[in-house]
Amino acid sequence: MQSTKQLLQCWKWKNGPERERLRESLEKWFGARCALFASGREGLLALLRSLPIEKGSGILVQGFTCVALPNAIHAAGFTPTFFEVDPETLNFDLDALDGKITPRTKAIIVQHTFGIVADMQKLRAIADRHGLLLIEDCAHVLPDATGPKIIGKHGDFLMLSFGRDKAASGVSGGAILTKDEEVAKLLRDEEVSAKELPLLTIKRLLCYPLIYFIAKPFYGIGIGKAFLFLASKCHLLSPVLTKKEKSGFQSPIVHRMPSSLCALVRWEFKHFESINNHRRKITKKYLEVARKHHWKIPSDITSDLPLQKFPILTQDADSIRSKLKKRNIYLDDGWTGASICPRTVNQEATGYILGFCPKAERLSKQILVLPTHPTMTARQANTIIKEVNSLLKKYENRKPKSEN
Ligand SMILES: Cc1ncc(COP(=O)(O)O)c(C=O)c1O
Repeated sequence: MQSTKQLLQCWKWKNGPERERLRESLEKWFGARCALFASGREGLLALLRSLPIEKGSGILVQGFTCVALPNAIHAAGFTPTFFEVDPETLNFDLDALDGKITPRTKAIIVQHTFGIVADMQKLRAIADRHGLLLIEDCAHVLPDATGPKIIGKHGDFLMLSFGRDKAASGVSGGAILTKDEEVAKLLRDEEVSAKELPLLTIKRLLCYPLIYFIAKPFYGIGIGKAFLFLASKCHLLSPVLTKKEKSGFQSPIVHRMPSSLCALVRWEFKHFESINNHRRKITKKYLEVARKHHWKIPSDITSDLPLQKFPILTQDADSIRSKLKKRNIYLDDGWTGASICPRTVNQEATGYILGFCPKAERLSKQILVLPTHPTMTARQANTIIKEVNSLLKKYENRKPKSEN
C-alpha cells in the first residue's frame, strides 16, 4: 500500500522531491502553470485572492454543492451567489443563468457534479458575454485518453482536489492550473508563503487508507465501526470537514501540499486509466439496470463516463438509505438532504437562503447516490443493485396510483 510506504519515510513527509514531480506532470498534462495546496478548498481560496476582482464581488456557484466552495469564497472576501440546478444534469440550469447575472457578478465556478460533464461551451459563451472569469472545478472528474475530452479545455482556471473520494486521491491536496501568467505568479507567491502542514496532521492523513483497510472487512459486524470510532477518538483520523467549516468558516491560512501526499497522487495518476475504466465499468452496470427498471436518473449520464458517484432520484431516498443501512450498505456519503452539503452544515451561515434554489433543494432531498470507487468489486455493485432495485420497487408499489 502506497500510503504505508510513505508513512515509513517520515523524513520525506513534508519536503521530498514528489511535490515538484507532481507539479511538472500536471503542467505538462494541462499545458498550464500549477500551484499546489493542502486541499482543493485552500487552492480555491488562494486562487480567489489572486484574481483581479474587487472584494465583495459575487461568485456564482450552483445551489447543490459542497460547503467547501461558499466557505472559500467568503474567506477570500467575496459573496457566493447560489444558482439553480437542472435535475437532468445536476449542474447549472443554464437556460435561466443569463438573466441572473448582475454587474456585481465577476466569476462562475462550474462543478461537474459526480462526473456528469457540464456544458462548457455554453458556459464559456455566457462567461464571455458578461465578462466573467470561469473557474472549472474538476474535483469529481478528470479526463484520461478516452475522455471526457471537454474537461479542462474551457475554464480560465482549473481547480483539482485530491481529497479522499475524489477523481484522483492523495487523501488530501489540491491544485490550481492556469495559463494566465499574472495570476500564476500571484498563486506561486501564495504557495511560497503558505505554511507547512504539521507532522501530526500529515501522519493522520497517511494513516487514513491503512485504518480503513483494516476496518472495512469488519464494518458489517460492528467491530470495524468500533475500530474507526476508536481511531477517531485517539486522533488518528482527521475529519473531512471541521466543525468550524460546517458552521460556514474557513481559515484564511493556506498550507503547502506535503510531498508524501503528492507521491500518493502520482501513484494514482500512473494508474489513472484503469481507475477511470473501473468507474466506467460500474457506471455502465448501474446505467443498464437503471434503464431496464426505469430508475429516475439525470438524463446526461452516459455509459462512457467515469462517474465518481451514480445518482438516482427518488422520493424515498432517506427511507431507502436507512433500510439499506440495516443490511450493511451505507449510502450516506454527505451529498444528500441539503442544498449545501453535507446536511449537518449550517445552511444560512454559508449565505444560502432557504427557498432560493427550489429545484436544487428538491433534488437534494431526492438524491440517492451509489458508489463507484476504485476498490469496489463487481460483486459489491451487484449486491447494491439488487437491494436498491427491490426497495425502489417496494416503495413505488406502495404509492397510490395517482402518484405514480
Ligand atoms: C465539487 C467539490 N469541489 C471542491 C471540493 C473541495 O475539495 P477539498 O476537499 O480538496 O477541499 C469538494 C469537496 O468535497 C467538492 O465536492
